Amino acid sequence: MATDRFSFSAVIFDLDGVITDTSEFHYLAWKRLADELGIDFGRADNDRLRGVSRVRSLEIIFEIGNREMPEKAEAEKLAAKKNEWYKEYLSGMSPNDLLPGARRVIETVRAAGVKTALGSASKNAPTVLKRLKITDLFDATVDGNDVGKAKPDPEVFLLGAQKLGVDPSLCVVAEDAGAGIEAAIRARMFALGIGTADGVEKAELIVPGLGDLELEELETRFKAWRGGRS
Ligand code: BG6
Ligand code: MG
Repeated sequence: MATDRFSFSAVIFDLDGVITDTSEFHYLAWKRLADELGIDFGRADNDRLRGVSRVRSLEIIFEIGNREMPEKAEAEKLAAKKNEWYKEYLSGMSPNDLLPGARRVIETVRAAGVKTALGSASKNAPTVLKRLKITDLFDATVDGNDVGKAKPDPEVFLLGAQKLGVDPSLCVVAEDAGAGIEAAIRARMFALGIGTADGVEKAELIVPGLGDLELEELETRFKAWRGGRS
């Protein structure tokens, strides 16, 4: 059901890069692992890890180093090591780490009767939400612990819509990663792109950050998009 103010019924937010910026922490933790492995991994490579799962990130690092991916048990050990370092960085997070506009957008759509969900690839998402003190701002949470198939598979967003009881065609997805935009498109949802990563140009509407989002413009674009589909 549409609300009085908006034609969409739900917004599903990605976490990293949309609500908060943990990509630097991911980078520092992966960099430490890459250094240990003797793989030359730099900041310029980090965009490739945006939105992709932990295991896929490790594969990409081995690809960058032109090295063969180790067998499963060893790969899991390496990924777990990186995650311990990553969690150390997370422990320093607070509500000050919310990106500009994130709280305003989430609270404004909720006040208008729109449902909100989190749709993140991260298994650490519940910890990050707690640190940011925004767990209560979501009617449903879907994260890396709930899904078997990583973005660009649409599973994470379809499960979010299902948990909210909203038809996918009435959902907006806010995403900063190309893989996430692809997942939103495959879920047949309206893709709101954040930033400039590869693949974000396929979104229906693009803004540099949630702080730049005009909700009336989102409403206009959503209505046109939905009208064009029926
Ligand atoms: C995504 C990040 O949100 O979560 C990726 O953009 C990350 O960079 C992925 O690899 C998985 O995160 P985690 O916390 O489960 O290792
Ligand atoms: Mg992201």
